[in-house]
Amino acid sequence: MPSSAFPSWLECLTCSRKYDLGKVRYTCDCGGLLDLKRDLGKADGRKLVSLWEKRWGLKSGVESSGVWRYRELILDVPDSKIITKQEGNTRLYPAGRAGKYAGIKNFLLKHEGENPTGSFKDRGMTCGITAAGIYNAKCVACASTGNTSASMAAYAATAGIKSVIFIPSGKIAYGKLAQALAYGGLTLQIDGNFDDAMTLVQEICGKLNIYLLNSINPFRIEGQKAICFEILQQLDWKVPDWFVIPGGNLGNNSAFSKALMELHELGIIDKIPRIAVIQASGANPLYTMWKNNKPFAPVKNPETIATAIKIGNPVSWEKSLRGIKWSNGVVEQVTEQEIMDAKAMVDAAGIGAEPASCCSVAGAKKLVEAGIISKDESVVGILTGNVLKDPDAVINYHTDQLKNIKGTFANSPKSIKATLEAVKAAL
Ligand SMILES: Cc1ncc(COP(=O)(O)O)c(C=O)c1O
Ligand SMILES: [Zn+2]
Repeated sequence: MPSSAFPSWLECLTCSRKYDLGKVRYTCDCGGLLDLKRDLGKADGRKLVSLWEKRWGLKSGVESSGVWRYRELILDVPDSKIITKQEGNTRLYPAGRAGKYAGIKNFLLKHEGENPTGSFKDRGMTCGITAAGIYNAKCVACASTGNTSASMAAYAATAGIKSVIFIPSGKIAYGKLAQALAYGGLTLQIDGNFDDAMTLVQEICGKLNIYLLNSINPFRIEGQKAICFEILQQLDWKVPDWFVIPGGNLGNNSAFSKALMELHELGIIDKIPRIAVIQASGANPLYTMWKNNKPFAPVKNPETIATAIKIGNPVSWEKSLRGIKWSNGVVEQVTEQEIMDAKAMVDAAGIGAEPASCCSVAGAKKLVEAGIISKDESVVGILTGNVLKDPDAVINYHTDQLKNIKGTFANSPKSIKATLEAVKAAL
């Protein structure tokens, strides 16, 4: 059974009931979400940091992965059981032009689109698929807005496990659909949106003994924590003032806060950075709840060009909220125009990312304008997916063909004659 280097168990967020790790379980009997908890009472934070520093830059072996480098706080499994693609080890770029646009001097962008399948999902997936193997799963499944399916299909292929993908029909970016097919996932396009796919996959996994690899799976969250560990290691464990993170199903920011809670408990950090979760205004249930101080209510027909976060009923909203409150964080929403203009700036900075990712920059700008983030604070934004995931969004923005979104910073292609004069005129 999977375990952690420290005594560990699953614990319900709602009723605190504990479960051992011997049996597959995604939720509590009460319906609550489960956390992988570990007893860090005997852990030595300094020793852990020095171990992680020694592993930095390893050329091979599981600890050369930007997830398994932190294996003590991920999963305790023998090397031979770990399915890894040396994920992580992604760059932390000065935001350049995108920083000026957001109005922040010290703005870094962590590019999770540089992972093996082009999104941050690989970090959670290496851990999830490793757990699947330990539980002897023969088949794994997920509902996806695209990136989870691409990642799961690739990792399942590496592990030699069958994968089944549930995607909303016609509603995922082409690059992602291409990946799912290429890596050999059985791809089922369902007649419904992501939330319908999520409901269906949970039912199917329960009834057909298929291992569920959405971020409701607590091991996915464990792997995803490594984004936060790696950023802090890149910053020599100096904690920024803010992390700004796009929010869809809300697993990623939940992983960030969990990582920070553990580092804080271990005494590795003493400052707690503030977490800002940014949603698209057409898929904003967490924002609406936060802003109006009301109970959580799903958004029925979510709509946004940032298809990765077109989610109306995010499964991890309670974990997300716990972390936002703990970190004195905030939730913001951004419009379609704000997402695509911020994306144009991220792209023009030579960094490039898919639309959902650029909520970080659009959201940071908005929070600076609102006086919530100060211009002098240090901010790390997370770019969750690669620019090539959604070429349609790029081309349509730059040729000003998007409905209700202007190509404010469009760099449209020009057709010219094949002559020197024509080139000179174009220059
Ligand atoms: C590119 C991208 N950004 C952001 C998100 C949102 O992450 P989460 O669902 O963990 O909130 C996703 C999730 O699918 C994604 O693919
Ligand atoms: Zn419970």
